[in-house]
Amino acid sequence: MQIFDSNRPPQDLIHDPRQIIIRQPDDWHVHLRDGAILTSVVPFTARQFARAIVMPNLDPPIISRTMAKAYRDRIVAAIPKDLEFTPLMTCFLTDVSDGEEIAQGFSEGIFAACKLYPSGATTNSNRGVTNIKNIYKVLDKMQTIGMPLLIHGEVVDKDVDVFDREAVFIDRILKKLVKDFPNLKIVLEHITTINSVEFVESSSDNVAATITPHHLTINRNAMFDGGIKPHYYCLPLAKREVHRLALRKAATSGSHKFFLGTDSAPHSVSSKESSCGCAGIFNAPCAMETYVQVFEEEGRLEALETFSSINGAKFYGLPLNIKSITLRKIDTLIPGNIKIDNQYYIPFNAGETINWSVV
Ligand code: DOR
Ligand code: ZN
Repeated sequence: MQIFDSNRPPQDLIHDPRQIIIRQPDDWHVHLRDGAILTSVVPFTARQFARAIVMPNLDPPIISRTMAKAYRDRIVAAIPKDLEFTPLMTCFLTDVSDGEEIAQGFSEGIFAACKLYPSGATTNSNRGVTNIKNIYKVLDKMQTIGMPLLIHGEVVDKDVDVFDREAVFIDRILKKLVKDFPNLKIVLEHITTINSVEFVESSSDNVAATITPHHLTINRNAMFDGGIKPHYYCLPLAKREVHRLALRKAATSGSHKFFLGTDSAPHSVSSKESSCGCAGIFNAPCAMETYVQVFEEEGRLEALETFSSINGAKFYGLPLNIKSITLRKIDTLIPGNIKIDNQYYIPFNAGETINWSVV
């Protein structure tokens, strides 16, 4: 058994090939939902992550300090008593967001960041931003106070192919945004393309990206393999293999610009398996297991801790976690479904075996 020592460099933590111990990771992008399912969803995240950036796309979205505080209280009430977990709240940006309210929330420690959803881009985003110019005053304030902007980077223009939405967002919106706000901290969330990898790599240090377990392990074929597979449908969509390979290289590179964000986003079977199914992959039941397997397959286990437990915290200016977690090379059977409040939820890669476990 290895003893975790927070002063040791990460590569020293890996000398037993059947087990690794790393500083406890954080999830820098998760959907915990609300109401009855919140209580069941939170433990999946809290069993592995010390902190999580909680997405605000509820219905109605979290747009004020009062809403964020109340939501945080509901999340805290759902944390199992034997686990320590800190939810970090975000503010959903709208065309009429108030910079003063947001700045106040940031200084009071209620908001850790703001989330930009282009209106209509994804689940519960209708009240999102219709024109980036509408939030320029808010962005200016955020830049001044050092508050991170988290971006769902997809255009929704009807003339753009759905598989190109992310790349076009970079060209039409993000390049100018970065130029206009050179010091704004930006996280391009759940990146799916080589274009995003290259953009982030070539930008200044205040631009970073999160990468999900699913975008590291599936390409767009997964959605159509032998028939339509709605449980692999998420936004941004998984892309071609060349993009998946670029994401794997970026995540395992050791670069401080890429960090863990699961984008775990549960929807019930009935809302996924429908003539107009919801976007979202519920990967919290197997998130760390999937990441560690990817790093092992890439021969880069020594870079896992940097990606999962260091880069994000440093970007957000938060202390590193002191506790550790152990990942052991023992098979985990991912459940075929999970029953929550009389509804079924299908986790990512349901029914499959993954050859790592979180101890
Ligand atoms: O697939 C997704 N699901 N992408 C998002 O951006 C939102 C999320 C959700 O909330 O369901
Ligand atoms: Zn998300």
